[in-house]
Amino acid sequence: MTDAHPPQKKPESCSFVIFGVTGDLTHRLVIPSLYNLAAANLLPDKFCVVGITRKGMSNDALRDSLLKGLHQYATRPVDDAVAERLLECVTSVEADPRDPASFDALRERLEKLEANRATGGNRLFYLATPPTAFAPISRELGRTGMLKEEESGPWRRLVVEKPFGTDLASAKALNEELLKILTEHQIYRIDHYLGKETVQNILVLRFANGMFEPIWNRNHIDHIQITVDEKLGVGHRGSFYDATGALRDMVPNHLFQLLSLVAMEPPARFDAHTVRSEKAEVLAAIQTQSEAEALKNSVRGQYTRGRIGDAEISDYVETEDVRPGSTTETYAALKLTIDNWRWAGVPFYLRTGKALGIKRTEVAIKFKQAPFAMFSCTAVDRLSQNYLVISVEPTEGITLQFNTKVPGPTIAIDGVEMKFRYKDYFKVEPATGYETLIYDCMIGDNILFQRADSVEAGWRAVQPFLDAWKKAGAAGLEKYQAGSEGPDGAEDLFRRDGRGWRKLG
Ligand code: BG6
Repeated sequence: MTDAHPPQKKPESCSFVIFGVTGDLTHRLVIPSLYNLAAANLLPDKFCVVGITRKGMSNDALRDSLLKGLHQYATRPVDDAVAERLLECVTSVEADPRDPASFDALRERLEKLEANRATGGNRLFYLATPPTAFAPISRELGRTGMLKEEESGPWRRLVVEKPFGTDLASAKALNEELLKILTEHQIYRIDHYLGKETVQNILVLRFANGMFEPIWNRNHIDHIQITVDEKLGVGHRGSFYDATGALRDMVPNHLFQLLSLVAMEPPARFDAHTVRSEKAEVLAAIQTQSEAEALKNSVRGQYTRGRIGDAEISDYVETEDVRPGSTTETYAALKLTIDNWRWAGVPFYLRTGKALGIKRTEVAIKFKQAPFAMFSCTAVDRLSQNYLVISVEPTEGITLQFNTKVPGPTIAIDGVEMKFRYKDYFKVEPATGYETLIYDCMIGDNILFQRADSVEAGWRAVQPFLDAWKKAGAAGLEKYQAGSEGPDGAEDLFRRDGRGWRKLG
């Protein structure tokens, strides 16, 4: 077991201003991550957390609520002294973007707090709000000068949660709006997939090992499958989900993060500009499909009543806040191609869905079959396939699947697996995955955040699917039973190319 990390430096003093401080995201992820950073002694020496509420709340009430959330969602036993140290930094302030005067007052409060706590004026504004509030809040922060950064003065940063837009046009409009107020280096568009160790490890696997690069291309790779299957249904998120659907919720962000890391060209340097440019480049190279092609190269499904383990899952359309007769997809599978030399002719199959029998996130790279069937005793199609599988959930690790001789007097061949599991090698404290991201925002490293151009490239690639599905309405929407593997069409999408999804489970 190894635990060899270079020591991390503490971020510079700053204030951490949270919009949406009473919400689920703050309680579930932001505060538990700040707690883990506090426990690792990785919060700034001078630090204050300003929780913005629209209706006002006392400091004590806000601290109590955050502490309750921390006990519920902490990834490790809560040490009271650490929690107290963190919560002591929290101040509640009332502000509502519909009331500009409240933002002028916020500025004054913030300046006083900064003076009292000696934070030096560095500010991080964290928008943990519904997406409709991103632009109005940013506008007010801009108008009052709270985001203004001057050369060699304190830094000012804005963290924006997903979803970043609901289609290409709205993502562009939001980027434009933000870029009127801030420069790109001040904006941190979060995708929590980039906080996952295994996702970050894709870069290391590819670019810290010389052996993969020579075979990482169309000459050796048959196709790539990206799967993000979830067991959970839509639960209490009916209103958000019904307006969003599986494609918008997962593909242009999380699945495309996986795709871009697997498919990008080797960056010349490990810095934010270079790495993000390569990621944007490969997303921009995804072939834009016509609506007819998009229909042919996609499958969408919606779950019906079923059982997952002990849980009874009701029909999607009977979920609270879902419109009766809704045609929103809870499952999406797409076939994409990338127009560049490395990937010409190599299909990328992507699938994601809710209420499936298994929770699994993985990237499976399927290598081409051996060119010549010299083992006459074994039909080539019985040879097991060569896969390199990067597993993100439920186990984090890498598996190589290859053929081997079955011991015995005759030649018989069987597929076996060589497995690397993170937990077998490294001692890792359970974490939310947000710690790295929040820490990076505080030290000003935006390598793990999405840049405007990649967000737009992602939406551009999925826009034909959104348009085609909207026009098609109920036509082509397949039903699948909760707890199953998803709609049958997802198999057909693959099978008609003479290929198949890797069996999960
Ligand atoms: C979120 C989606 O961004 O990601 C959810 O809005 C989804 O619908 C979640 O369940 C999946 O994240 P993870 O880390 O569990 O794969």
